[in-house]
Amino acid sequence: MKPVIAANWKMNLTLTEVKELLHEISDAIRTSNDVSVMICPSNNYLLPVQQFCMDQGLNVMICAQNISEYQPGAYTGDVSANMVKSCGATHVLLGHSERRHVFNETNDMLKTKLSYCKDTGLIPVLCVGETLTDREQDKTESVIKQQLSILSGFDGEFMVAYEPVWAIGTGKTATPEMAQAVHEFIRNECPEECVVLYGGSVKKANVEGLLQQSDINGALIGGASLVAEEFSGIVSLSNQMAVKKGV
Ligand code: 13P
Repeated sequence: MKPVIAANWKMNLTLTEVKELLHEISDAIRTSNDVSVMICPSNNYLLPVQQFCMDQGLNVMICAQNISEYQPGAYTGDVSANMVKSCGATHVLLGHSERRHVFNETNDMLKTKLSYCKDTGLIPVLCVGETLTDREQDKTESVIKQQLSILSGFDGEFMVAYEPVWAIGTGKTATPEMAQAVHEFIRNECPEECVVLYGGSVKKANVEGLLQQSDINGALIGGASLVAEEFSGIVSLSNQMAVKKGV
């Protein structure tokens, strides 16, 4: 399985900056055939990102950051699953911790969104992760098990991203061993072929140790994905590791 290196741009960048960043990272993507690159832009940049990748012949998976919990209709300002699909997204992040904590997304809402993935063929990337309090109270596995439970009965392809909440945007990364322990737990709860990404303050300096772990199939990168040199470095380094491993 090729490692997946995913850039979650969150609510950042103007259209001009998107184009600049794409130009700057395109060489690393083009020369890294042993990794799969995924970009998660804001919904209004889905089409320009798709267009850029087509024009440049770049093999990139495009992932929306969110979809509406409603079916198309009178929901001003919302964006539905079939809309993001029609603009080039093949994947969608579901349940990112910022959606859970800032926008109060619940497992029930995520179940509904999951059903839209099934209807439209979008591949969900379910984000799971514990807070610092959960970890301190030894509840990491039970919290993650509950977050994963919404997948029961979902028979389509999906990915999981383990993002400990305390490691997101804080500069604190789980050690490779800590991450591996949770990834092993997730792996045992999911089909064997499921891609399980790690996210939380991943950068060029720490990606190697994480990707060396047997149950970590790639990374979901926030802050460092906005810095061309960092993201290109991560893609190239992951590619070198994959080549060495002979994936
Ligand atoms: P950071 O890499 O900025 O910690 O963000 C991680 C994340 O939330 C990716 O989805």
